[in-house]
Amino acid sequence: MTTTLVTGIAELATLDPALARELGAGASPARPTHEPTPDVTRLGLVHDVALVVEDGVIAWIGPASQAPDADQRLDLDGRAVIPGFVDSHTHLVFAGDRAGEFAARMAGTAYDGGGIASTVAATRAATDEQLRALLARRVAEARAQGTTTLEIKSGYGLTVADELRALRLAREVTPHTTFLGAHVVPREFASDRTAYVELVTGPMLAAVTAEGEAGRPAYLDVFCEPHSPHAFTQEEARTILLAGRAAGLGLRVHGNQLGPGPGVLLACELGAASVDHCTYLSDADVDALAATGTVATLLPGVEFSTRAPYPDARRLLDAGVRVALASDCNPGTCYSSSMPFVVALAVRELRMTPAEALYAVTAGSGASLGLDVRVAVGEPVSLAVLDAPSYLHLAYRPGVPIASALEMG
Ligand code: NIG
Ligand code: FE
Repeated sequence: MTTTLVTGIAELATLDPALARELGAGASPARPTHEPTPDVTRLGLVHDVALVVEDGVIAWIGPASQAPDADQRLDLDGRAVIPGFVDSHTHLVFAGDRAGEFAARMAGTAYDGGGIASTVAATRAATDEQLRALLARRVAEARAQGTTTLEIKSGYGLTVADELRALRLAREVTPHTTFLGAHVVPREFASDRTAYVELVTGPMLAAVTAEGEAGRPAYLDVFCEPHSPHAFTQEEARTILLAGRAAGLGLRVHGNQLGPGPGVLLACELGAASVDHCTYLSDADVDALAATGTVATLLPGVEFSTRAPYPDARRLLDAGVRVALASDCNPGTCYSSSMPFVVALAVRELRMTPAEALYAVTAGSGASLGLDVRVAVGEPVSLAVLDAPSYLHLAYRPGVPIASALEMG
């Protein structure tokens, strides 16, 4: 059993205001840059604290001046520590390249989901080893930027065997996996959409849920989008979501991405954990999100990479909606796994405060996965360290790689 004393923490975001008050009694007062607004208070910031980690679990948190002895020391030399980012929406299991599609989009071509077919072809053609290696590189890339928890969707296989393979590969790197057999209708079913919905809700769902507790996905997701001929209609999406719910899976929805649509209301009606994108919302959509508690997960990297209008985060926050932010890392609409980039976009373009953005990439995204994200004694270490004195630098220093997962060595 090895204990490590982590010192030199200039600022720790505990996400636990009660703990922060308790620790604040013995630590130095919060710095004046942090106004005591509710969004900042919710971060539970403390300064000049130390942590003791014992075999990967936080064993002690307290004022640095009262730190106990430990077997080894890790001096962070005045850096900030935050809960590791929870990236609650990614599509990391894929092969192939769509940089040309991105370039065409920057020249004016609109996104409609048609490019997904090329990723499906490349992914089906790849070997398990090739996919595993590509996935490992993307997970390492995310971790190097401060992400410690990842949700990963299938959705580029679209056959029973290929969806099962994607979920198994994803399960090798995270417990948070989502079955997205209903990503698009694959080309071979274009003239018989009903047959594909029957495949997804029948043999495909049966195969992925027969995996046993250690392998079955936690969620089912569907791309419900009337503005894409490849995605699913309201009625198709309802059928698929109801089948997923009956099979015991939690629900997530890709909704209201390309224009106004039924995805948000459907997600709220069926008790989905999250509805993601939320770029085009009606008043009824916002009211339903606020009333049901379904998390609205915003993915501003997508609007950046598709040159689309950003979602209205302020409208959601002001209505009391639970807001999360995630990367949506995928080869089509946003090939970036960078959560600091998402924070910078959220602050600059979505007009979220830096505190709201940090909360949304940790507690908010965690809540959409059923996780209670906070820094607490007895919890496994799942932290990120910033090469900066404060979390404010995440948005203040865009494009600078200041965040990384805290490695205990
Ligand atoms: O979340 N909108 C649907 N699915 C993905 C994009 C997938 C792709 O284009 O490869 C998304 O944006
Ligand atoms: Fe997505």
